Amino acid sequence: MTAPTQTLSTQSSRKILVTSALPYANGPIHLGHLVEYIQTDIWARFQRQRGHECYYVCADDAHGTPIMLRAQAEGISPEALIARVSEEHQTDFAGFNIAFDHYHSTNSPENEHFASHIYEQLKAQGHISRRVIEQYYDPEKAMFLPDRFIKGTCPKCGADDQYGDNCEACGATYSPEELKNPVSVVSGATPIKKETEHLFFELPHFETMLKDWTHKGHLQTQIANKLDEWFESGLRAWDISRDAPYFGFKIPGETDKFFYVWLDAPVGYMASFKALCEKKQLDFDAFWAQDAQAELYHFIGKDIVYFHALFWPAMLSGAGFRTPDAIFSHGFLTVDGQKMSKSRGTFIMAKTYLDHLNPEYLRYYFAAKLSSRIDDIDLSLADFTQRVNSDLVGKVVNIASRCAGFVVKKFDRKLNQAWSKPAQDLYQQFLDQSEPIAELYEKREFAQAMREIMHLADLANEYIDQTAPWVLAKEDGKEAELHESVSLGINLFRVLITYLTPVLPETADKAKAFLQLEHLNWSAINEPLMGHEIVKFKPMLTRIDPAQIEKMLAASKDDTAAQKAMQQAPDQNKETPTDMEPIADEIAFDDFAKIDLRVVRIAKAESVPEANKLLKLTLDLGEGQKQVFAGIKSAYDPAEIEGKLTVMVANLKPRKMRFGVSEGMVLAAGPGGKDLFILEPDEGAQPGMRVK
Ligand code: 2FM
Ligand code: ZN
Repeated sequence: MTAPTQTLSTQSSRKILVTSALPYANGPIHLGHLVEYIQTDIWARFQRQRGHECYYVCADDAHGTPIMLRAQAEGISPEALIARVSEEHQTDFAGFNIAFDHYHSTNSPENEHFASHIYEQLKAQGHISRRVIEQYYDPEKAMFLPDRFIKGTCPKCGADDQYGDNCEACGATYSPEELKNPVSVVSGATPIKKETEHLFFELPHFETMLKDWTHKGHLQTQIANKLDEWFESGLRAWDISRDAPYFGFKIPGETDKFFYVWLDAPVGYMASFKALCEKKQLDFDAFWAQDAQAELYHFIGKDIVYFHALFWPAMLSGAGFRTPDAIFSHGFLTVDGQKMSKSRGTFIMAKTYLDHLNPEYLRYYFAAKLSSRIDDIDLSLADFTQRVNSDLVGKVVNIASRCAGFVVKKFDRKLNQAWSKPAQDLYQQFLDQSEPIAELYEKREFAQAMREIMHLADLANEYIDQTAPWVLAKEDGKEAELHESVSLGINLFRVLITYLTPVLPETADKAKAFLQLEHLNWSAINEPLMGHEIVKFKPMLTRIDPAQIEKMLAASKDDTAAQKAMQQAPDQNKETPTDMEPIADEIAFDDFAKIDLRVVRIAKAESVPEANKLLKLTLDLGEGQKQVFAGIKSAYDPAEIEGKLTVMVANLKPRKMRFGVSEGMVLAAGPGGKDLFILEPDEGAQPGMRVK
């Protein structure tokens, strides 16, 4: 099956299963999460509207240490915690009209069955190995500690209170063993190192299969490129077991060993669908067997690509199941150009949003921003207000409101029976966009679809302006013209709302009631409404008042749920960092102007033997020298760069590092590893020149 990123399927009725990533069962849903659920829901609704058999399943991701500890902190059982959070999540999703066919939990019998089955298959094929590792252990809590539950002093820059896997002050990544003065976040005790036997999934056994799979159109280009880098640095066996105490499934045949949460999380997609199959008498194998004809798509955030594009297809293929047709990754959400922030009130919980604003607004705005790429998307609150008010209220709904009164009062609620040639042509122009717009939805180019639809809305409004029904209504003998103008207006509105149905399901329902239609199926617009009866117009959407936004921001500042959700971020369950960093917070021009960039000559370059990444550079600025430690060892042989020109930040406050003082920074760009490029100025540059 070719992924729809390339080709639009022409099958008349397709069987499709879609999923969104499973949210952790220890925190509330916020607007950052909703980008994905709204994106997936729009796509699933579109498929159903086109007449395909499309199921959308999800579940709570219920296992792991953070959930176990959260339950302990609340003095309740993990089961009680996940039951409560599941209710909260489902209420939030329903509030945004996310129409799951089934919502499950990874802590379910179906999931235990499939996780164990997959594991046993992998083990039988020789893909599971075991080895003893050394891990930090909290002697007071008698538990092994994930990296995120250890804090200490950064081994690179000396900053205190840093996590066991990376430093938020200098950005260094390291192993917990390198952290100085480690402390258990759980008890405050000093952790000790302890040996333990773990089970590993031998991912390198799947290298050939994965290299092939990742280049067959199942992934977006940016993601496939990222994977090539991972292949280059070599696949490693994946640690899939955790020791007791752990909230998860016991590993069959082992004592006190549990599946790592990320092993059973994607299996949750299967488990949720299995539960749906039981409910609806569907054929599970038609969707998951190796020869399944149904299509399978996973929508995810770009931060969890490693799990979905490597581990998951390898697990599936090793255990004899089909692999996904595509993984659709998206970027992160920023609000007003910056990371969501509690102090600015932009860390907005789903519930807080719903207390103040209509969910359809956000669905539309996200649609107007989403594409098939993995770029981050920005919720600019001023633009949000302006777009919703002008596009949805001012353009689309307005068409119905401008025409309905005349139909109801002057024509006894009935639309006219036949159209003039120009009216037919305009309607045809709207129909001509049906397949192009469908294709944009199919390819997840929602922003472009919204632009096309709004262009049509402009045409409809221009038509009403030109025919001016309010003028015709006052003139004698213009009844037929008036009737055509407002009837065509209503028909054009029907086409537009049909095109917008995946995005605006609630408004579409109101439109259905207004138009007295049973459904808004995509192909139904081929038959215009002639002589059809409508009802009195009631406003379907109201304008956003900026005061509502202000109130939402104020409420978010006070929101204790936001506080908890923030504490969870960065994700405590994640153990495979990726280097696809979102663009950092905006800085003002004045801040930028403070940075003194200078051309410098690399007078001396030496390797720092104790550091994996660092070169010690002596940089000649023309009027003196500075010493800088630069993390470019993976890309450059010191001898090769001596004598070359580069660009440095010359006025950075000196920082004491483990190996000496660093008096600036060299500008480098690239994903890392071998692909890290120091910026080299053009010929003619001289040491000391200011870079502007
Ligand atoms: O990153 C997360 O929020 C995970 N809970 C997503 C899991 S997706 C799937 F694999 F279950
Ligand atoms: Zn640091």
